[in-house]
Amino acid sequence: MTAHITVMPSGHTFSAEENDTLLEAALRAGIPLSYGCSSGNCGECLARVLSGTVVKVRPHDYLIKEADKNKGAVLMCAYSAMDEVVIQAGIAGADDIPRQTIATRVKAVEPINEQVRALHLMTPRSQRLRFLAGQSVLLEVGGVAGEYYIASCPCEDRHIELHIRRDSQPFSQQVFAGLAKESVVQLTGPDGGFVIQLDSRRPILFVAWDDGFAPIKSLIQHAMSLEVAESMHLYWLADTLAHYQENYVRSLADALDDFEYTLLDGRADPAQLVEQVLAAHPDLSHSDIYAAGPAGFLASLREAALGRNLSILGWHEEVM
Ligand code: FES
Repeated sequence: MTAHITVMPSGHTFSAEENDTLLEAALRAGIPLSYGCSSGNCGECLARVLSGTVVKVRPHDYLIKEADKNKGAVLMCAYSAMDEVVIQAGIAGADDIPRQTIATRVKAVEPINEQVRALHLMTPRSQRLRFLAGQSVLLEVGGVAGEYYIASCPCEDRHIELHIRRDSQPFSQQVFAGLAKESVVQLTGPDGGFVIQLDSRRPILFVAWDDGFAPIKSLIQHAMSLEVAESMHLYWLADTLAHYQENYVRSLADALDDFEYTLLDGRADPAQLVEQVLAAHPDLSHSDIYAAGPAGFLASLREAALGRNLSILGWHEEVM
């Protein structure tokens, strides 16, 4: 039986199957609930059941005080929902998520084109990486390290996708020279605060420059799973790299009514590029912009967007 859960005060909703803990189901839906050990020991996932029925499906060592129990306190990593359940629970921001070090394994190195490889990593069976879309991690293999943005959604259980561009960095060279399946890649992170605003329901413009598409792809997937945007429009500017996952972007546009995209040639005049991105958006007073790219372009885009009534709170950038 499928149960439906609402999280207060954020208003997020998600579904859970029988025996799913509240925490497992919420994370699968991309909702970054606050938690710690995920195994019933720390008490950091304490929530309060406001209505509905929950049952204990996992043992836990953490002792909930009797007074709190009487007020509906449960551990989200140990309880499952039986019907329509409303809980009061904390949502984690970028600052709440601890840095983790995880020995991941290479699932695949996908040759997208001559310039880009998609590196697919898997975390161990019992461990998932806690992160928010838009964040980066440090990867280390064979004594070389490099920092990369995660391109996959936090809602994907153990799978992590990263886009590695061909350059002179030792980690990139290692990947392009060949990284065997099942190789161990040490992952440390997450880092960064280029994350989705969970309380927004406005239209979102995503702007990616070259492999700035990696954090933007993660943000788009997270925004979709959380249903936080009224509509989404991706502008992808290819300068030294091609639109290397154009098929993926097209498949999103085919599947979703509220997602559009525009592919642009990043070698054009910068002022012209800014104009092309904003041409269809004369009034941005009810929009958010998430943009990842070089500092000069972002500065021009920001100035032009603010000139079209974008609130400064609606501007989110990552200089790459
Ligand atoms: S996350 Fe530690 S007790 Fe639930």
